[in-house]
Amino acid sequence: MIISSTNDYREAARRRVPPFMFHYADGGSFAERTLERNVTDLADLALRQRVLKDMSKLDIEIELFGEKLAMPAVLAPVGACGMYARRGEVQAAQAAENKGIPFTLSTVSICPIEEVTAAIKRPMWFQLYVLKDRGFMKHVLERAKAAGCSTLVFTVDMPTPGARYRDRHSGMSGEYKEIRRALQAVAHPFWAWDVGIKGKPHTLGNVSAYTGKAVGLDDYVVWLGENFDPSISWKDLEWIRDFWDGSMVIKGILDPEDAKDAVRFGADGIVVSNHGGRQLDGALSSARALPSIADAVKGDIKILADSGIRNGLDIVRMLALGADATMIGRSFVYALGAAGKAGVENMLDIFKKEMHVAMTLTSNQKISDITRDALVDLTKL
Ligand SMILES: Cc1cc2nc3c(=O)[nH]c(=O)nc-3n(C[C@H](O)[C@H](O)[C@H](O)COP(=O)(O)O)c2cc1C
Repeated sequence: MIISSTNDYREAARRRVPPFMFHYADGGSFAERTLERNVTDLADLALRQRVLKDMSKLDIEIELFGEKLAMPAVLAPVGACGMYARRGEVQAAQAAENKGIPFTLSTVSICPIEEVTAAIKRPMWFQLYVLKDRGFMKHVLERAKAAGCSTLVFTVDMPTPGARYRDRHSGMSGEYKEIRRALQAVAHPFWAWDVGIKGKPHTLGNVSAYTGKAVGLDDYVVWLGENFDPSISWKDLEWIRDFWDGSMVIKGILDPEDAKDAVRFGADGIVVSNHGGRQLDGALSSARALPSIADAVKGDIKILADSGIRNGLDIVRMLALGADATMIGRSFVYALGAAGKAGVENMLDIFKKEMHVAMTLTSNQKISDITRDALVDLTKL
């Protein structure tokens, strides 16, 4: 299959990965309207073409939290990422390192923290959920610290899980899921060999290390469901801020008032995100939420944005709307599922080339040059 874009990787992943895992990544919550709008609202933004401005010294590098990034992007935390390729978190982290950007490990990864950090030299970012079991949070934070993680990404948009209807249809959850998954694996022999057999154990590495028993994919949803904490408020985060010496980023901000709270709280950054349309369906797309957040807090805190980025042009669009950097979610998961580490590396190369085109033809030589001026205000036409 010819690969030239995220869409191609999506189709390649659809073929290689069994439906219960493909749809787990591809789907969103409820009617998937926010998921859809994340992509279309971003793609609908018109870039303002400018020409003849000598763009020969294009530079897409940035510095973020004292780290050099080869492009303004970070691989987003993705739970059960190790089910898309053999020990998938290790492969994705190596791809990110080779392409000069950070990788964020999810709390609910397959590979435990130490397995991934042992495979890379670049400091990893670590994502933490707010969970009822504070003992687990402390345990996992201590391990992230000991493993040299540089940035803590604190995800706050999951006090309760959004209903993912697709998961019941695909066999990820629901009746006869074990037999349905086994049948799907047989129909996807490459995946069955690469991940199903050679990629074991399929347990949640960080959680199993804490509970002392194997917590597998089936226990995952139950464990998470029982452990999300709807009582959480900013006050509950204070001990973590005091405990964590590195940078701290609050992920899941969609409103300027919450962004201001994050500044007051003393966070180093926020991620403007609706969890890729996997939580509150009907919430604003990130592209729509971002401008008013940037108006409220730009300069006071680093603004990252995700949800809907499918190419390098989308990265430039997010920057034009006010982000300092971006996170890439599904785009890298599709590439990982389709072609492992090499797929993620190639996808990042494609994104870089697309950014080069977008910056050259909007006449922005470096990342800090990109402002809302890079977009055309369609309402005024
Ligand atoms: C399969 C999958 C699993 C995810 N797991 C997590 C997670 O464990 N922690 C987290 O903070 N975000 C998680 N996310 C959300 C991503 O970090 C990111 O916000 C989202 O994918 C961005 O949207 P996009 O994929 O449309 O670009 C997950 C997303 C996907 C697709």
